Amino acid sequence: MANMTDLNKDMARVLVSKEQIAARVAELGKQISADYDGKDVVVVCILKGAVHFFSDLTRALTCQMEMDFMSISSYGNSRKTSGVVRIVKDIDADITGRHVLIVEDIMDSGLTLNYLTMLLQAREPASIRIACLLDKPERRECAISPDYVGFIIPNEFVVGYGLDFDGFYRNVPYVGVMKPEKYQ
Ligand code: PRP
Repeated sequence: MANMTDLNKDMARVLVSKEQIAARVAELGKQISADYDGKDVVVVCILKGAVHFFSDLTRALTCQMEMDFMSISSYGNSRKTSGVVRIVKDIDADITGRHVLIVEDIMDSGLTLNYLTMLLQAREPASIRIACLLDKPERRECAISPDYVGFIIPNEFVVGYGLDFDGFYRNVPYVGVMKPEKYQ
């Protein structure tokens, strides 16, 4: 067993621990439950990175809510400049007149969420808010910020708790900074 793969070895350090995530998600759950108390809300998971945050956050909500899922994909390299994405899987719910809470893992340039919000706004929901586990405000390229933020983080390459490098590391249970030699 000496040569078993250990993803922990590819990390330079833990940026946000399992315990810190759990505590913050519980706080956000209380805040969001209070804000949406008595309202009709659809909570939308943006696949794939948000999967763990969505799963933990929704279980911390005590208000009535419906879960939905959206999968998006960038158009070649265009996302780097515009954030324009293609919907691979749309939500099932009709959100007209309903409150929508988008759940994302990370806001970087902000372009993806800026575009997504615009797309969903066209369906005339009662409101749209964004809950984001990690926010990198230093990287922002447009005027958007999450309504609920787990952690503001520096501009470092992070993986784990849903975030990937090349499709891997999403199962790491904390947010870690990768050793540069592992991704460069
Ligand atoms: C990540 C994240 C956001 C986007 C944020 O998605 O989930 O959708 O990048 O970047 P931006 O603020 O610069 O637009 P990614 O393309 O890694 O897809 P994934 O969630 O499937 O990993």
